[in-house]
Amino acid sequence: MDRRKFLWSAGTGIVSAGLLGRSLAAEGSRSAADIAAATDTIERQDSGVTGPLREFRLVAQQGEAEVAPGKVYQTWLYNGQFPGPEIRVKEGEQLRIIVENQLPEETTVHWHGVPVPNAMDGVPGLTQKPIAPGESFVYKFEATPAGSYIYHSHVGLQIDRGLIGPLVIEEATPHVTYDRDYALVLDDYLPGDPQPLGGMGGRRGMMGRTMGDGCNDGWWGGNRQGGGMMGGWMDMERQMPPYQGLLIGGRLPDDPQVFETKRGERVRLRLINPSGATTVRAAIGGHRMMVTHCDGRPVEPVTVDSLVLGAAERYDVIVEATNPGVWPIVIAAIEGNAPPGRAVLRYTDAAASALRDGVPEGFRGGRQLYYQDLQGLETLPAGRPDRVFDLMLRGGMMGSAWTINGQAYPAADPLMINKGERIRFRMSNHSMMLHPMHLHGHFFRVGNALKDTVLVGAHMGRAEFDFVADNPGRWFFHCHNIYHMEAGMAREVRYA
Ligand code: C2O
Ligand code: CU
Repeated sequence: MDRRKFLWSAGTGIVSAGLLGRSLAAEGSRSAADIAAATDTIERQDSGVTGPLREFRLVAQQGEAEVAPGKVYQTWLYNGQFPGPEIRVKEGEQLRIIVENQLPEETTVHWHGVPVPNAMDGVPGLTQKPIAPGESFVYKFEATPAGSYIYHSHVGLQIDRGLIGPLVIEEATPHVTYDRDYALVLDDYLPGDPQPLGGMGGRRGMMGRTMGDGCNDGWWGGNRQGGGMMGGWMDMERQMPPYQGLLIGGRLPDDPQVFETKRGERVRLRLINPSGATTVRAAIGGHRMMVTHCDGRPVEPVTVDSLVLGAAERYDVIVEATNPGVWPIVIAAIEGNAPPGRAVLRYTDAAASALRDGVPEGFRGGRQLYYQDLQGLETLPAGRPDRVFDLMLRGGMMGSAWTINGQAYPAADPLMINKGERIRFRMSNHSMMLHPMHLHGHFFRVGNALKDTVLVGAHMGRAEFDFVADNPGRWFFHCHNIYHMEAGMAREVRYA
C-alpha cells in the first residue's frame, strides 16, 4: 500500500483574502460550500487574536501500518498514515478540522493540551456525542497558544490502535532561535487489538466478566509466560500490555526515522509521547539537550542529558549540532518491558556515515530533567487556592479498578468548582504504577512551570498543581495510561 497516499487538504483554497481576519465571526457570510459540513454552532475563544482559517480533513479508517521493512500490521489510522499526519499551523489561525469516521466503531478526536472551548474537546459522553461510523464532526477552535500538542482519539483504547498524531502550533516570536524544527512522535508498539484491563470498574469491556475469562484470553502475558493472572497480579510488568517495542515516527529501531542537520545548526526537536501506557527516558548520543518548552509552554532554557516523558507529556529541546556524525536518539521504557526505540540524527556533512552505536550519555548518568528544573516564562503567580482537592490514586490489586478516592469513573462524583476560583489538586499515588495525570481545557502550575500532564511517581509518589477556573464546561481529568483511564481512574471537573 502507499504510505504516502493522503487525503490531506492543508488549508489550500480556504485561506483567501475574503476569509482573512475575523474568520469565525464572519462565518455567516461565507459561501454555502464552505460551510456545508459545519453542522454545529461556532464557538469562539476570547483571545482577541484572529487569524486566517485553516481547514483540514482527518479520516479515521482501517489500514496497514509498516513499522519496519516488511513488518506490516492491520490497524486504525488517520488518513492512511501512522502516526497521523502532522498538523502544523501558526498561532492565531482558526482551525476547522473535519473528522470523518470510516471505522467500524464510534470515535472522537481530542486536541490534547489546547484549551479549546468545551464543545470542541472531543470527550465522548461529556462534551459531545461520539461520531458514529459513517458520520463526521467538524472541530473548530483557535490555534492558541503556540506549542507542541497531540491529537488523539478519546474513545476507549483507540490510542493503542494507532489513532494519534502531532499538532504543532508555531509561535510568532519564539524565545529561542533554531534552524530546523522536527516533531518526533514516540509510541509504544502494540500490533494486536488492545484489550481492557481485568478490573471490575471498567467503563466497557471487562465489566461483568469474571477473572476466569481474563485468564483465558491470555492477553496480559499470564498464560503466555506461564504464570497465569492470579500469580501475576503483583508483577508490575504484567499490568502492561504486551508491547513489542517502542517507535519513533512509527518506526522500529531497525529502520529508524532520520532527522538531518549540518554542523553549526541548532535543531529544535519536539518530543511528544502519545503512548498508550509507556513512560520513557529519552537521550541523544553525542549531544546534550537544551529544554525550551514543557507541554508546549516556554521555559527558561535548561540543558540536560536525559529526560522522562510520561504518556502525553511533551518537551521541546534544542540540540546544537557541534559533533558531526550519525547519532542515535534513544527512548527506553521506564515502566513495562517494551524494548527501546530509536531514531537517528544525521549530519549531512559528516565524513562517516555509520551510526554511532552504544548507549547515549543520558543513560549512563549525566543530568536528568526534573520538574523542579522548569522555570516557566509564563506562569500562574504563586497564591493561595480557593479550593483544594486531595486525590488518592489507587488500584492494580487483584480484580480491582483504578480509582480516585475510591471511586471508578463513571460511577464517580464530579469535582464541582466555581468559575474564577483557583483550584489545587494534591495527588498521592497508593499504587505500584506511574500515573500521568491530565486535566483537559486548562494549563496548570507544577513547581514554577505550566503543564497539562504531570507524572505522579509510583509507591507513594506525590504531585500537586494549581489552575484557575477560566474555561467553563465539563472537563475530563484522568490518568493518561489509557488502561487505567478505562478502568476508572478519571473524574469530571465541572463548572459553569
Ligand atoms: Cu490526551 Cu483526555 O487526553
Ligand atoms: Cu495511571
